[in-house]
Amino acid sequence: MTCSHDQVRAVAWIDGRLQLLDQRRLPQCEEIMVLEDSNAVADAIRDMVVRGAPAIGITAAYGAVIAAGSRFKAHPDNWRSGFKQDLEVLNQARPTAVNLAWAVQRMWEAAETLEGDPVPALIELAHTIHEQDIQANHTMGKLGAAFIDNGSAVLTHCNTGSLATGGYGTALGVIRSAWSAGKLTTVFADETRPWLQGARLTAWELVKDDIPVTLLVDGAAAYLMKQGKVQWVIVGSDRIAANGDVANKIGTYSAAVAARHHGVKFMVVAPGSTVDMNIPAGADIPIETRPPAEVLEVAGIAVAADGAQAWNPAFDVTPAELVDVIVTERGVVEQPDLAKMTAMMA
Ligand code: MRU
Repeated sequence: MTCSHDQVRAVAWIDGRLQLLDQRRLPQCEEIMVLEDSNAVADAIRDMVVRGAPAIGITAAYGAVIAAGSRFKAHPDNWRSGFKQDLEVLNQARPTAVNLAWAVQRMWEAAETLEGDPVPALIELAHTIHEQDIQANHTMGKLGAAFIDNGSAVLTHCNTGSLATGGYGTALGVIRSAWSAGKLTTVFADETRPWLQGARLTAWELVKDDIPVTLLVDGAAAYLMKQGKVQWVIVGSDRIAANGDVANKIGTYSAAVAARHHGVKFMVVAPGSTVDMNIPAGADIPIETRPPAEVLEVAGIAVAADGAQAWNPAFDVTPAELVDVIVTERGVVEQPDLAKMTAMMA
């Protein structure tokens, strides 16, 4: 169910089929992809048809349903070994967002004890994962908005909205909630090179919701802060380590450094499924490096000097000491550290 200030769904399971809104084509074109094969689901995750840590996890959960269905059909008495291989392919699609591994693990654990046709029970679990994500986002929206004073402006990075989650969004959920409460004057959004999630996706979602959004190039963020134009930077995360270090879209770390320098507060909003207590610190988080062409080209057109090389890390790690507050559906942690994270996740 969508509600006011939440009109978009990136992932849907309709009439037994997985539907993804192709985010590579937005905002020019709203095209739905229908997927009926779990390897195609893994490809869609890798190729950014669907992106954003929680949305990737939800998609993988539905991908697992598809895998279980076709493996059971082919080998009703021995479907789990092929299913396990399919889950591994889904798991490998993108390495940084732990929500993917979290969802795949939940589907595997459920499947291990099932007898007979596994599909009905696995569909139910995938729906539960999806619904719980939306509920968590609404809870985080309220918890995060409570930190924001009336008359504030905020800066966000990448896309953390309905497109990146089951619906409503993490950081964008807090922004939606603060806007609904009348606390915000405007939202600034980094364009977020190279995939332009800010320019293409965040701006698209906010315009649809009638929330004023002003785009800036990523390099302008520090100057925006210097001019006192924002009071909070609010971002999502792909994986939070046990000590509160935060992996998120490349450019988040620069924004956090600039925020601390300028006395701007820095908030990270992510569900419990993004917290990885098995990873002690940010240095241990696997960071995805994507193809150089994503930097050397824009929309498939070469923009760099012929012969130039490119380095394209998709994420960076912001140390916990630069984070003022982490908001999850389990509660909030100010000035995060291992003890506080452990207490919250217990
Ligand atoms: O490469 P992407 O677009 O999947 O990266 C997404 C982000 O970095 C988001 O900020 C993060 O997944 C949190 S989304 C709620």
